[in-house]
Amino acid sequence: MIADAHDHSPAAAPRADPARELPRAQPWQRMAAGGGLLDPSGALRSTVFEEMTALATRTGSVNLGQGFPDFAPPQPMVDAAVAALHTGHHQYAPIIGVPALRQAVAKHQRDHYGLHLDPDSQIAVSAGATEGMTAALLSVLHPGDEVVMFEPRYDLYGAAVEFTGATPVPVPLLPPTFTPDPDDVRAAFSPRTRAVILNDPHNPTGTVASREFKELLVELATEFDAVIVTDEVYEHLRFAGPHEPIASLPGAVERTLSVSSAGKTFSATGWRVGWVSGPPELMRGVIAVKSYLSHSAAAPLQHAVAHALSFPPAFYDALLQDYRERRDVLVAGLREAGLTPPVPEGTFFAVADVSDHYALAGVDNATDLGRHWAENAGLVGIPVSAFAGPANRGLYADWLRLAFCKRTDVLRGAMAGLAAAV
Ligand SMILES: Cc1ncc(COP(=O)(O)O)c(C=O)c1O
Repeated sequence: MIADAHDHSPAAAPRADPARELPRAQPWQRMAAGGGLLDPSGALRSTVFEEMTALATRTGSVNLGQGFPDFAPPQPMVDAAVAALHTGHHQYAPIIGVPALRQAVAKHQRDHYGLHLDPDSQIAVSAGATEGMTAALLSVLHPGDEVVMFEPRYDLYGAAVEFTGATPVPVPLLPPTFTPDPDDVRAAFSPRTRAVILNDPHNPTGTVASREFKELLVELATEFDAVIVTDEVYEHLRFAGPHEPIASLPGAVERTLSVSSAGKTFSATGWRVGWVSGPPELMRGVIAVKSYLSHSAAAPLQHAVAHALSFPPAFYDALLQDYRERRDVLVAGLREAGLTPPVPEGTFFAVADVSDHYALAGVDNATDLGRHWAENAGLVGIPVSAFAGPANRGLYADWLRLAFCKRTDVLRGAMAGLAAAV
């Protein structure tokens, strides 16, 4: 059981972005700073994501910076959405989500992971994983709490944590394997730790959390009475063996809020249908918060996702097979270009240490090499350093992230451009 009474003494010295230290920073500025959107003067700055997207558009490059599929979702799910529109479902859905989807999520968790959830008290539908993660974090964090999170990381975590006035405590995932040093993990926990955020499989590195890493997190979360907030949007994009949710580990389920989404599994990132599951006492808070964020996700699409979650195992096998092919085209292309990327174990992202290309391009970091590739090789990636705060950014200075959620002909074209340029 999670105690709600935590030590609310003043926060430790800020360890994240210098913009957090702005005098009288507004809540939105704390949020923007936590997501890396603020410059030290407190003004919004354009991000490397925007810069690279603009560069891809200007140069006509293949944009492997953006993490969304360029192919259609499964037709039966689209048909189910059309049918749902024709049969009503135009008014508010219940705050916690339509029963059909909550029941489908419960069945999915049972069939895939052996997790038994009550669809009425342990599952809530959200507007994408984004709202689910945000509601989970806002529901448990007090100003002054500490939140252990691993870098590089998805920008949302820092943004939501900073908004609450809690302090992120970043732990680096160490290249080239992107595993954390267990001593760093232990040292990050303290009596102020209120939550730890896991993302497994992991964006941006394409790694999956080992059993030992997850066990250590459960052990430390239990010792310090912290909530585990786990982002598993890539649960069905795991190439080696089945996904093992941290909630399924002994001692985890009573303190874990698990978040997932239809966006990645069903190639429909624009549908904005996700879900959170966890113990009823934690879910009550998540539901209260989310009722004042989106209220409820789009009703007809919830019905269509409920249908999609009942797809047979063959759907998931085919999904993985297609992604494995895309991954292999990207990795082979990078190897032909003289790089040695680790083979992604999950997600639709690959990372590569690109320092061997610096001399040829006349640059000395991955960010500038990314710009050079856009101008000269016809493809765009995102520097991994963009996913880390100042303390750890330097660790990733040589790494670029490339998305392979694109058609194989598009990936082949991008790799041919790279080969020609080098
Ligand atoms: C790790 C991670 N979490 C959450 C999200 C957002 O998920 P959704 O689109 O369902 O809000 C993304 C999207 O890229 C992601 O990569």
